[in-house]
Amino acid sequence: MLKGRCLIDPADFTREEFRELFDLAHQIVANPEKYSKSCEGKILATLFYEPSTRTRFSFEAAMLRLGGKVIGFSEPNSSSVAKGESVADTIRTIECYADIAVMRHPKEGAPRVASQYLTTMPLINAGDGGHQHPTQTLTDILTIERLKGSVENKTYGFCGDLKFGRTVHSLIKFLSNYEGVKFILISPEELRVPEYIREEVIRKKGIPFEEVQQIEPYMNQLDFLYMTRVQRERFFNEEDYIRLKDRFILDMEKMKYAREDTYILHPLPRVNEISIEVDKDPRAQYFAQAKNGMYVRMALILKLLGIY
Ligand code: NCD
Repeated sequence: MLKGRCLIDPADFTREEFRELFDLAHQIVANPEKYSKSCEGKILATLFYEPSTRTRFSFEAAMLRLGGKVIGFSEPNSSSVAKGESVADTIRTIECYADIAVMRHPKEGAPRVASQYLTTMPLINAGDGGHQHPTQTLTDILTIERLKGSVENKTYGFCGDLKFGRTVHSLIKFLSNYEGVKFILISPEELRVPEYIREEVIRKKGIPFEEVQQIEPYMNQLDFLYMTRVQRERFFNEEDYIRLKDRFILDMEKMKYAREDTYILHPLPRVNEISIEVDKDPRAQYFAQAKNGMYVRMALILKLLGIY
């Protein structure tokens, strides 16, 4: 039962709970109209302390398409945050007004702390600093299932900023619970996955993996290549960012090494790590992925509110 629960980290739900959620998401994709009044009378609050396009809009669109309503801020300084209010006090206030809330915050752990002050309202982590982003993982998994049926027995390439990329951390954490997965981790030395992901997730679960610094030689092994942006806002100095930002650029030249059934995913926003010429290749699935984000968030809202 997911009713009343919070989703802060992919480890918060069991495999069975995720299965129920994805089954509902697939049903919503097939027949969204059926759910268009499911959330009548319900209010979603979106608390975005950091910029967002897809995550916030897809959550808001999800709630509106379910017949519910949305309140919130995307500019925290328009709220009492500007007066120094704590996350704890803000979330307790929001619980007085909304049925469910979504929070993005630059500080790792802020949504977890906020969730500890709640009594009944479910809270969803929409990204906390360079830590986790579990609903992007839901988006990614729905996309993977729609393209290849299941997540098992596949090789996943992750490329770019694996250190600060929270979408990568959450997706690796999720996939590490499934049989037959293998990871190829492609990044500059300085942007390798954090140790807690490599040791406490990947190694602990016994997942085969390689850490490499080139895309081409590995392309034909991959079922999915998950590209990411170098996370400029999490760097300590601009010189490091400038030095590393153009290390991996996926263009049609590199796509020649990919199989016919190697799909390219990206959580977006893209800066320049995927050349726009790749967009028209049928293997480029990142905009379809963004659309799936809305459907899976519809399913998540319905589950956490106990409507389905
Ligand atoms: C990602 C994020 O915010 O972590 N964006 C998203 O939610 N789709 C990726 C990024 O910002 O690079």
